[in-house]
Amino acid sequence: MSKKKKFILENILIESYAAEGKCIARQNEKVIFVEGVVPGDVATLFVHKNKKDWAEAKVNAITTLSKNRVTPFCDYFGVCGGCKWQMLPYELQLSYKEQQVKDQLRRIGRVEAEESLPIKGCNETSLYRNKLEFTFSNKQYIAPEDLKEGTSFDKNVLGFHAPRLFDKVIDIEFCHLQNEPTNAIRNFIRAYALEHGLTFHDIRNHTGLLRNLIIRLSSLGEVMVNLVFGENNETLIQQVMKAVLEKFPAITSLNYTINLKLNDTIYDQEVICYAGKEFISEKLEDFQFKISPKSFFQTNTRQAEELYRIVRQFADCKGHEILYDLYCGTGSIGIFLSKNVQKIIGVETVEDAIKNAEENAAFNHLENTHFFAGDVIKICNQDFFIKNGHPDIVIIDPPRAGCHEKLIHKLLELKVPRIVYVSCNPATQARDLALLSAQYTVTKSQAVDMFPHTHHVENVVQLNLK
Ligand SMILES: C[S@@+](CC[C@H](N)C(=O)[O-])C[C@H]1O[C@@H](n2cnc3c(N)ncnc32)[C@H](O)[C@@H]1O
Repeated sequence: MSKKKKFILENILIESYAAEGKCIARQNEKVIFVEGVVPGDVATLFVHKNKKDWAEAKVNAITTLSKNRVTPFCDYFGVCGGCKWQMLPYELQLSYKEQQVKDQLRRIGRVEAEESLPIKGCNETSLYRNKLEFTFSNKQYIAPEDLKEGTSFDKNVLGFHAPRLFDKVIDIEFCHLQNEPTNAIRNFIRAYALEHGLTFHDIRNHTGLLRNLIIRLSSLGEVMVNLVFGENNETLIQQVMKAVLEKFPAITSLNYTINLKLNDTIYDQEVICYAGKEFISEKLEDFQFKISPKSFFQTNTRQAEELYRIVRQFADCKGHEILYDLYCGTGSIGIFLSKNVQKIIGVETVEDAIKNAEENAAFNHLENTHFFAGDVIKICNQDFFIKNGHPDIVIIDPPRAGCHEKLIHKLLELKVPRIVYVSCNPATQARDLALLSAQYTVTKSQAVDMFPHTHHVENVVQLNLK
């Protein structure tokens, strides 16, 4: 292959799937990672990174489409960053995800599970999200092929950010990710705002009344809306909220937030309940969860239940165990397993999440759960384990970066009999398993698909002390 840094390659067959949405092609034994294609496509590639053993390329054109492709179901496919794998049949998406997990455990972790269970796919591959967040913007996204001389980006729109364009938003009329009344609520608010001349957020100048819209639905039929304003105009805010409530009396928790900061996060802002309850309720098996506007909750409710069932199977509790739920978020895994053990100890860095965990434990009348706010590295020291009891089972569910090495060394030192490692990033999980495999056997592994039509995959691993 050329020694140049940047060049074009023609007629290249995309051979297989790699990870993170990237596929693999080969040229004279060199591996080329390519985004935006599927195995079986033949493409013209623009190589923009050329290293000794590998290269990275962008697609200039797909000259022959893979016979595995199917017709995407969404009008915004190719534009919106949401469901990028719609061109693949769901069964094939699952097999690529399953293969990716196995490859990464083998390649990065140098481990192979004694038993690899088949990936757990979703029964519902659309309308599966319980939460969506939309952005108001005074700048619309226009696809490059639709750009003509004189086309203006100035338009008040409400939808999703265009990938890699922080100031342009795709105006969404219908999204397949969440059930109704989500589309109806979003479209009503946009129409109301346009009719009444309300201003939409201008991200560059930090002006505009309407900023974000967050909608959450629960499987119990409850609906939460949080409308985020970028200006504090009490009269206009009250008028919009009144109009939304009159149009959608079925909203069970109607809230608004005034966010005058430069960034969109509302976690440090007060959420004001305009009508209804301050939370919605969700149910996983027999456990009820209170979800307030700022709470974290797994976004695919039915699949979260499946994930937690796998965690429970892998934990294989007999009833007497002290179980630590590390990186516990709002405590949902611990609560889900609470009936199977003697005691649950949850640790999470976000204080509000721990408050939610405690509320949820009380909501379910649990007396064997104890939650602690703080960094696992600081909290989980010798004293902590002496005080709360030697762990029989530890569940770890860290963020994408994986576990801190210090925590892994602590678990090795404690010789915890069983660890169940839940991960949303099999690459960092594999890295951590490489360290744990010094003293642990990877007995089971099962991938779970929480997000159909995306390349994201969750993986659960059971480790037993050798
Ligand atoms: C993948 S989420 C786990 C969610 C939870 N197990 C559930 O199923 O809802 C990872 C969690 O780890 C927390 N976290 C990140 N770094 C942490 C740390 N150093 N110590 C404790 N918690 C941490 C995050 O705030 C987040 O809630």
